Amino acid sequence: MEKKGIYKVLFVCLGNICRSPSAEAVMKKLVREAGLDERIKVDSAGIIGYHEGERADPRMRAHAARRGYRLDSISRPVRTEDFYDFDLIIGMDDRNIDDLKRKAPDLASVEKIHRMTEYSRNKLYDHIPDPYYSGAEGFELVLDLLEDACGGLLECLLILK
Ligand code: 4NP
Repeated sequence: MEKKGIYKVLFVCLGNICRSPSAEAVMKKLVREAGLDERIKVDSAGIIGYHEGERADPRMRAHAARRGYRLDSISRPVRTEDFYDFDLIIGMDDRNIDDLKRKAPDLASVEKIHRMTEYSRNKLYDHIPDPYYSGAEGFELVLDLLEDACGGLLECLLILK
């Protein structure tokens, strides 16, 4: 994070209706609590545009709301400009990472791609499992893993300050 600059983070999952909107909401809350709203900007997008224009999945919204997160993002697919616009592009699983690498317009963009669980502090998962076809426990697990990893991500960004 450049001194006095703005650092931009994009979270990406498959549909942009479950995991990445949750990551966006969790990270925004942490950033706000740290008083860094003006320095760290957060957004989310999906690999596929199938849910474009939709709010987050109602099941994900309900689970997130119980923890105090309001998911108000509208689904959109990743765009080529995102690779120039954002400093860090964070995928949730292997498939997201492979798809992002395929979409990246140049080598500098590939270097911006990271995996959410790289930032985990306490949870031993190597990806954020897709909850779309799961029960309630899948949505709770997503939130547990994202709260842990977003905390780690914020710590990393503070070191770069
Ligand atoms: P997400 O979950 O990638 O966490 O938003 C999914 C949402 C939609 C689909 C799959 C996963 N889908 O197949 O439509």
